[in-house]
Amino acid sequence: MKIARKISEVRQFLARNGGKSLGFVPTMGDLHEGHLSLVRRSKKENDLTAVSIFVNPSQFNQKKDFQIYHRDEKRDLSLLKKHNVDLVFMPEPSEIYPKGFQTWVQVDDLTLGLCGPHRPGHFKGVATVVAMLFNIVQPSKAYLGMKDFQQLKVIERLVHDLHMPITIVPCPTAREADGLAMSSRNRRLSPSEHIRAVQFARALRDAGENSKAGKMSVPKIYRRFLEDASLNKKDVDYLEIADPETLLPLKKIKKPFVIAAAVWIGKTRLIDNHLYA
Ligand code: PAJ
Repeated sequence: MKIARKISEVRQFLARNGGKSLGFVPTMGDLHEGHLSLVRRSKKENDLTAVSIFVNPSQFNQKKDFQIYHRDEKRDLSLLKKHNVDLVFMPEPSEIYPKGFQTWVQVDDLTLGLCGPHRPGHFKGVATVVAMLFNIVQPSKAYLGMKDFQQLKVIERLVHDLHMPITIVPCPTAREADGLAMSSRNRRLSPSEHIRAVQFARALRDAGENSKAGKMSVPKIYRRFLEDASLNKKDVDYLEIADPETLLPLKKIKKPFVIAAAVWIGKTRLIDNHLYA
């Protein structure tokens, strides 16, 4: 397993491996089964697999959140080694954002709703770093989790709009046995918060099933969700039933739709969604 901290080292790796298909899994580290399910899929579908570990400062709208983001390089590398990953790219911020950096990728309409208004600048940071990582790693396919559904759509859009020759492979959300979507943020939950997080996951799944059944109005689904999740309105950034392509809210629920939510459990913000295609 080659570990590259410099862009030039990635270029050397690519030069040595010309002509082979390369699958790529971009991450911010602190790897869990969700990330590893993407890695396994890439291993299966490509000659070579590259993973990046980069906690991207520009996508954190709160500096504190960036600082406290859990990092464990040793553990991550050992997991990736066990999975026979071929290349790990783990640059320093200065390698990605050279002095004088001033070029950004902005995806417009898809970032107006859902997490967009609650995390100003977040998707600009994500789109920019992912475009850079794609330019550096030059994969044939990139594997992204549906857990971050809006992020997935933003990345699909930018690849299309910027004419990048990369296939985006959406991968299903890996969940704990209790239904909670796996996330690096789950480790921040206290035992009692974990129970509330599971309650949120179940309430969202039920809200999805109620939406699919087509017997409840959107406001009723919202009220029922708050009740089932035992959440106050102020703890819910949004619960939205949206068109999965435009991400615009649906007034009348019909398939295909995505039901997505972001909530606060104590000081931890969790997101989750279900797609009904
Ligand atoms: P990170 O949160 O580390 O996630 C890396 C990839 O793993 C993303 O594609 C994400 O959707 C996927 N993922 C996370 N939890 C998952 C789960 N439970 N099941 C399946 N896939 C899951 O998302 C980012 O990093 C960053 O924004 C990044 C794209 C790397 C840009 O900095």
